Amino acid sequence: MRQKIVAGNWKMNKTLVEAQSLTSEIANMVEDEAPSDVKVVIAPPAPFIYAVENLIPEMGQIVLAGQNCHQEDAGAFTGEVSAPMLKSLGAQYVILGHSERREHFSETDEELAKKTDNALKNDLKVIFCCGEPLEIREADTQNEYVTKQLTNSLFHLTPEQFKNIVIAYEPIWAIGTGKTASSQQAQDMHKTIREHIAAKFGQDAANKTSILYGGSCKPDNAKELFSQPDVDGGLIGGASLKSRDFTDIIKSF
Ligand code: PGA
Repeated sequence: MRQKIVAGNWKMNKTLVEAQSLTSEIANMVEDEAPSDVKVVIAPPAPFIYAVENLIPEMGQIVLAGQNCHQEDAGAFTGEVSAPMLKSLGAQYVILGHSERREHFSETDEELAKKTDNALKNDLKVIFCCGEPLEIREADTQNEYVTKQLTNSLFHLTPEQFKNIVIAYEPIWAIGTGKTASSQQAQDMHKTIREHIAAKFGQDAANKTSILYGGSCKPDNAKELFSQPDVDGGLIGGASLKSRDFTDIIKSF
């Protein structure tokens, strides 16, 4: 059985008090309503991780994540956040390779390989994002595009290290656009990703890797997406900023 995961990526939203209220609301709703076998990951902006950490129950169903980290442990990198910092704030995961980081901060596959190494070295699990832009989907070369992202950034890892990787497939044309991939498009890509992982790390490792879908995942489409055999949960942007919507997505399993 693969771990089911619903992760909320808050991006650059909320102030301190808002972040605390949203965390408390999610914690209460998850405790009352969510299936206990779904891991819930919350990725608030880094300055808030420590401030919300005491608001989540200790039993461990809800865990915290950073939205990015630098490839070095420390140094003269003004404005950056390191993996040891995230770890010390209480994060257990970090999201790496989000398309917004690739686009607005020019992150490359090679840089993401280094970030992944550093995150794993610091005992953070990595939610590694991949996904194609619209023109690649229109040219029907999305499988090559996405598998290359994974090869370039993750295939140098040892099988032992790879156990700490969660994949998030996020077609860029579906992020924040209200345009979701169809459940069949998601399933097809997730299957391709799983086969690609199997070819490198073996079928057993592939079977154990959680692959999340991201891109306009909402309460009204989550059930259909999550019912696909290779979709193990979601990475949620906009809908993770509303406790009711986020919880309803978690309940879609
Ligand atoms: P969205 O964002 O749910 O708002 O489309 C998903 C993401 O960027 O992770």
